[in-house]
Amino acid sequence: MKRMLFPAGAAAIAAIIMGLCMGEEGKPQNEAKSEGIALDKPQLDKGMPLMQALKNRKSSRQFSDQKLSKTHLSEILWAADGVNRDDGKRTAPSAMNKRLVDVYAVIEEGIYLYDPGKHQLMPVAQGDFRKTAGTQPFVHSAPLNLIYVADYDRLTGMPRQPEESDKAAWACLEAGHKAQNVYLYCASEGLAAVARAYIEKDKFASAAKLRPGQKILYSQTIGHPAADKGK
Ligand SMILES: Cc1cc2nc3c(=O)[nH]c(=O)nc-3n(C[C@H](O)[C@H](O)[C@H](O)COP(=O)(O)O)c2cc1C
Repeated sequence: MKRMLFPAGAAAIAAIIMGLCMGEEGKPQNEAKSEGIALDKPQLDKGMPLMQALKNRKSSRQFSDQKLSKTHLSEILWAADGVNRDDGKRTAPSAMNKRLVDVYAVIEEGIYLYDPGKHQLMPVAQGDFRKTAGTQPFVHSAPLNLIYVADYDRLTGMPRQPEESDKAAWACLEAGHKAQNVYLYCASEGLAAVARAYIEKDKFASAAKLRPGQKILYSQTIGHPAADKGK
């Protein structure tokens, strides 16, 4: 009898762990992988008509504790900054195509940097850093926070240096385009999202080991709306 207990207990624990790691579509999601998270290709033939998504676009601050599926995680990142053409250009425009703004994903398992070329999340820091992503309490428990970070070092060495105010404007506009793409994707998928300026900037910069040339601009919290709880 004693010998039976261990395998039964181990099986139960394994089932619980597997349950925790499965998305609503039954796929493993958001594993804390030190080698990164390979994202799924976006499904390009779905979604509501654009006019309907524009009509539904709104900021929501009430999130259920349901995790995002790997499909949603992948498509949110692709909507924000994915490669959508053979020449490597992105879903969001960029001044002189300098691609000033990087997208960091903060999930329960860690901080990741989106690599659009590989369509992959690269590990930055392991552990739950959602408290660094913002001051509002919903930020700390929502499944995904995107942090939009400008890298002004990408503008060095230009023949004619842009003015500081232009650099800031270009970066903020690029971040805004990306965030709006995510808002529209979320509207189409029935996900809740809110763009945010309030970020624990020093704490996030330290956790993500940002360089002095990198500046945190903007953020966005995403998840299932609270009404979906239990679905
Ligand atoms: C630049 C910017 C910063 C914002 N910062 C925050 C924020 O820190 N926290 C928040 O809850 N909402 C924030 N919002 C969302 C606005 O409050 C929201 O867009 C506004 O109330 C209009 O609502 P709507 O998005 O549903 O149309 C921000 C929006 C923008 C454009």
